[in-house]
Amino acid sequence: MKYLNGKHILLGVSGGIAAYKSAELVRLLRLSGADVRVIMTKAATEFITPLTLQALSGNPVHTDLLDSAAEAAMGHIELARWADALLVAPATANFLARLAGGRADDLLAAVCLACDAPVAVAPAMNRAMWEKPATAENLATLQSRNIGILGPAEGSQACGETGPGRMLEAAALADGLSAVFQTGVLAGRQVLVTAGPTREAIDPVRFLSNHSSGRMGFAVAAAAVEAGASVTLVSGPVSLDTPAGVQRIDVESAADMHAAVMQAATSADIFISVAAVADYRPATVAEQKLKKGVAEVSLDLVRNPDILAAVAALRDAPFTAGFAAETESVENNAQHKRRAKGIDMIAANKVGDGLGFDSEENALHVFWEAGEQRLPVTGKRKLARQLVDLIATQFQHSHHQGKVLKFNAKDSA
Ligand code: PMT
Repeated sequence: MKYLNGKHILLGVSGGIAAYKSAELVRLLRLSGADVRVIMTKAATEFITPLTLQALSGNPVHTDLLDSAAEAAMGHIELARWADALLVAPATANFLARLAGGRADDLLAAVCLACDAPVAVAPAMNRAMWEKPATAENLATLQSRNIGILGPAEGSQACGETGPGRMLEAAALADGLSAVFQTGVLAGRQVLVTAGPTREAIDPVRFLSNHSSGRMGFAVAAAAVEAGASVTLVSGPVSLDTPAGVQRIDVESAADMHAAVMQAATSADIFISVAAVADYRPATVAEQKLKKGVAEVSLDLVRNPDILAAVAALRDAPFTAGFAAETESVENNAQHKRRAKGIDMIAANKVGDGLGFDSEENALHVFWEAGEQRLPVTGKRKLARQLVDLIATQFQHSHHQGKVLKFNAKDSA
């Protein structure tokens, strides 16, 4: 369950006797660090009360598609957007048929249809219903649409029969859901990420810095772990917990970050530079706190090293991906930075209007030599997963090409 920490999990409960196991599932998901919201069908509320699942999840339970109060608080589209993954457990034969039919005639079905995050179902039904061709066809349809199928198990059933159709136990479902986040696209790779701001000291109590919260970089580091990589995160001063599985190095200034990155870069396959590094630092740092005796003071600044450009210039440079925080001419400026720094890829974000610095959401326009892709506004964790997928694809492409080029060069030598 190690990939569930911090994830937004939507749990759909449809109307079968196995709904009683959903209570334990909610408890386990919470224990794994997930934020859980529950949607119940009308029939599910006959088996277990919304109050039970509300108490265990710590969030209101959603039941109605046409409840204006609930829609105003968090409607079906918001719920779908909020989710990092959606699991329907139990998924009855009837619910599977409705899902396969693309129905949106109750809240749970509508959210399943609206959800872009991974969706999985945990079938639970009588043995004979499970074995019918109609159910098998519905499952095949769902599988062909990339909906994950968790279970069912075999054994004695509530109806008194024995056979396949029992819902998996809560722990197995939580493990199955956790595996959804483990993509493996960077298995065996070393990824180095920078995050957060840097602080450039003026005197012992003052510094120059910026509004970076570190959220975007930490999300990228977490996504790289989920992709199977060994991840080192060099972070400026932020107040965020280290994502599970990440080796973190804390730094203060751009010079500290430069030193830490250059040391780690030699063993990295991929370097993702998300940090908002200060371009300048005070030329001198006062040893004592500056006194406010005069009306005006001026500060002499000198350039900091460009960490990303320095990594890209290494003899055996890793695949390098930078970020570009822009307020105007996003595409031109980003492409200019990509070429000037000699990097493989750049992810441009237009900062302001609630996006970019110190926000929960962001949007990216990613450029590389032979292409570009827009990643629309969404939560930073989801966006980071999409970006890491894109980086993995381009890394594999460049790695393959690099091998071919080196091979050809050796051949012709
Ligand atoms: O931390 P959050 O609150 O979540 O906000 C995220 C973010 C807005 C900070 C992030 O999405 C982002 O845009 N990061 C890069 C910000 C930035 O400094 O952009 P830049 O255009 O100044 O730098 C371009 C690239 O060069 C960046 O990859 C930067 O890390 C790198 N750089 C810059 C200067 C320098 N001296 N060394 C560098 O390595």
